[in-house]
Amino acid sequence: MIISIINLKGGVGKTTTAIALATAAQRDGKDVEVYDTDPQSSASLWAMSAEESGDALPFPVIPANIATVRAAERKCKGDQAKWVVIDCPPNGHVMDEAMRVADMVIVPTTTGPADMVKAFETAETLSSRGIYYAILMTRTVARTLTLRQSLSELEERGASYFDAQIPNREALKNFFGNSFGDDLFGYEGVYEETKEGLEDGD
Ligand SMILES: Nc1ncnc2c1ncn2[C@@H]1O[C@H](COP(=O)(O)OP(=O)(O)OP(=O)(O)O)[C@@H](O)[C@H]1O
Ligand SMILES: [Mg+2]
Repeated sequence: MIISIINLKGGVGKTTTAIALATAAQRDGKDVEVYDTDPQSSASLWAMSAEESGDALPFPVIPANIATVRAAERKCKGDQAKWVVIDCPPNGHVMDEAMRVADMVIVPTTTGPADMVKAFETAETLSSRGIYYAILMTRTVARTLTLRQSLSELEERGASYFDAQIPNREALKNFFGNSFGDDLFGYEGVYEETKEGLEDGD
């Protein structure tokens, strides 16, 4: 399977989602690789830092480009046992290619009107290309007006979204450069929904 993590906006939790989802998939016995297509190299730096501190990530993080993304399409698109999770920059040809080859695109977004506008723009691009996607709300704060409004906007627009939400947690922020422990901060649910969605799509 190829799961691409995409949002036209930066700083919304894409890299965190890629690493946490890959961790959940690896723990469920999938053969996982993360492809880092972002020139900022955040996922690669995360993996390098984890390795240097003796806490290596349980899957490879591979710098990738349009050619490697295309090769992944040949290698594992639709293959249930192999998961390639592609962490993307917020624009550019490699992001377009990662969209095209994906079995599913996850669109992480922070909540609030301005952030949701970008998530819907991303979702519309994906829908217009016939690509299966779901929006994932990250850094949520329970029982806030912002969260309620963002949820009702998702409903009103008929967008596809995860029931699971990722709460705003200082501890999660501090995971950059480390492996995850037992707690995946809600990403267990994201993994389960992703897996179910992909199975239903077959
Ligand atoms: N649920 C969360 N709770 C608290 N902090 C979070 C959460 N998710 C992500 N962060 C923090 O928010 C920042 C942005 O997250 P991340 O790097 O995953 O986003 P990104 O979309 O990949 O950003 P970029 O566009 O720069 O690649 C990071 O400092 C990260 O540690
Ligand atoms: Mg990133």
